[in-house]
Amino acid sequence: MGASKDKSWQARLSQPAHALTESFVESLSFDRRLWPHDIAGSLAHAEMLAEVGLITKADFRAIRQGFKEIADDIEKGTFHWDPACEDIHMALEAALIARIGEPGKRLHTARSRNDQVALDLRLYVRAAIDDRIVPALRAVQKALVEQADRYRDAVMPSYTHLQRAQPICLAAYLLAYVEQFERDVDRFTDARRRADVCPLGSGAVAGSTLPIDRARVARKLGFAEVSRNSIDSTSDRDFVIDFLAAAVVCGTHLSRMAEDWILYASQEFGFLSVADAFCTGSSMMPQKRNLDVMELVRGKVGRLHAALSGILTLCKGLPQAYNRDLQEDKVHLFAADDVLSASLEIVAEVVNQTTFDRARLEEATGRGFLDATVLAEYLVGRKVPFREAHQCVGRLVAQAEREGCELADLSLEVFQEACARIGKDVYDYLGAGNVIRRYCSAGNAGPDSSARQIHHWRKKIGPRASRSRR
Ligand code: ARG
Repeated sequence: MGASKDKSWQARLSQPAHALTESFVESLSFDRRLWPHDIAGSLAHAEMLAEVGLITKADFRAIRQGFKEIADDIEKGTFHWDPACEDIHMALEAALIARIGEPGKRLHTARSRNDQVALDLRLYVRAAIDDRIVPALRAVQKALVEQADRYRDAVMPSYTHLQRAQPICLAAYLLAYVEQFERDVDRFTDARRRADVCPLGSGAVAGSTLPIDRARVARKLGFAEVSRNSIDSTSDRDFVIDFLAAAVVCGTHLSRMAEDWILYASQEFGFLSVADAFCTGSSMMPQKRNLDVMELVRGKVGRLHAALSGILTLCKGLPQAYNRDLQEDKVHLFAADDVLSASLEIVAEVVNQTTFDRARLEEATGRGFLDATVLAEYLVGRKVPFREAHQCVGRLVAQAEREGCELADLSLEVFQEACARIGKDVYDYLGAGNVIRRYCSAGNAGPDSSARQIHHWRKKIGPRASRSRR
C-alpha cells in the first residue's frame, strides 16, 4: 500500500508518509476505545469556544449534531474507521469535517492532540475506576461478606508458615480479604483524585494566545481542578502510573486469594469446592476437575506487573513535555484495565459459587494442637509467667504427640504433673470450640468479632450483591 490521503499536518512535509511510517506510528487500532471521551472533550471544548466567541453558536450546534451522528454510527458499528487516520483524535475530526464542513475545521482552535489525549486518558481512568474497577471490587467484597455470614458458625484452622496455628472462624478468614480489597478501593480512589485535573487548554506545551476559558471546560467535564502548568500537564502520566500501581497491588491480593482457593480445593485440604461452571477438566486424565479459573487469576497478574513496569520504563528518561513515546501509555493502561476488571468480575462469581465443607474444616481444626496457645494463656491467668507457661505447654504437646492424642485427651494428673496450678477447668479452655469463644482482643478471629465485622461491612458497602443467574 502506498501512502494514503493527506493528514492534517501534511502541508509542512515534502513527502507523504511511507506506508511503513504510517502503520508504525498509528494508534487508531488500539486508541479507538477512547472515542466517547474524545467526543465528550471536543463538545466541552467547542461549547466553550462558542461561549467566549472564538466560534459561533451555529458552529457549535453543527459540531454537536455532527458528533451525535458519529457517535450513533460508532455505536451501531457502521462508522468507517479509516486506517489512514493516525489516531482517534484525527479519525473523529476528519469524520466531523467530512460531515459538517467548515465548523468542523474550527474545532481544533486553541487545542493540540497533546492536551487532547491527556484529557481523554484522564476521563478514561476516571470512568474505569468509577464504572468498572470499584464496582467490581465491591462485588468481590459483598460476595465474601455474604459467605462469611452464611458460614458464621464454621471453624477452620488458621495457618502461619502453612502450618496449623490457631482455630479461627471461617468468617474471619474470609473477612481478611475484604480488608485487603478495601485498601484497593482506597488506592483507586486516590488514583482517581489525581486523575481528576483538567489538562485541556494546555495546548501542545505552552498554552494558547487565544482567550479560552479553561475553567469552564473543566466544569463541563466534571473535573475538580484545572491543571496549573501547561508543560507538566501535557506530559504528566503519573495518574496512569498510580492506576497501574493500584492495579498491581489489587492483583497481588487476587493472586494470594486464588492461591488459597486452589490449595483449599485440593483433595489434600478438601476445605472448599467451586461450582463446576467455574472448573475445567483435563484432555487426558478423565477424573480431573481443575480450578483453572483461579490459576489464571493468579497467572494474569503477570500482565499487571508488565503494565506497571511498561509505563515506568516509558516515562523514565523522557525529556520534559510531550514525546510520542507517550502514545504507548495506552497499551499498558488498557491491558491492565481489561485484565483486572475481568479478574475481579469472575472472582466475585467464584466466591459466590463456593461451598465450604464444615465437617472437614472442623475435623482439621481439632487436630494439630491448635489449642496450645490458649493453654499457655490459661496458665498466664493462673499467674504463671508467659515464658514458663510456653515451655510447660511445649512439653505437654510433645507428650500428647508421643501418646498420639490431643491436649484435651490428657488426664488432669498429667496436666498437674506439668504444672500444679492447672485445675480441672482447663478442659473448658481446650478444643477449637472453647478457644474461639474465648478470644476477646479487639479484631480477633472469633465469632463475636466476626459478627461485628460483618455488620460493619454491611453498613459500609451495602447489602448482598445481586447474583447473576446462569
Ligand atoms: N496518538 C497520540 C498519542 O496517543 C496523540 C498525540 C500526538 N501528538 C503529536 N504531537 N504527535 O499520544
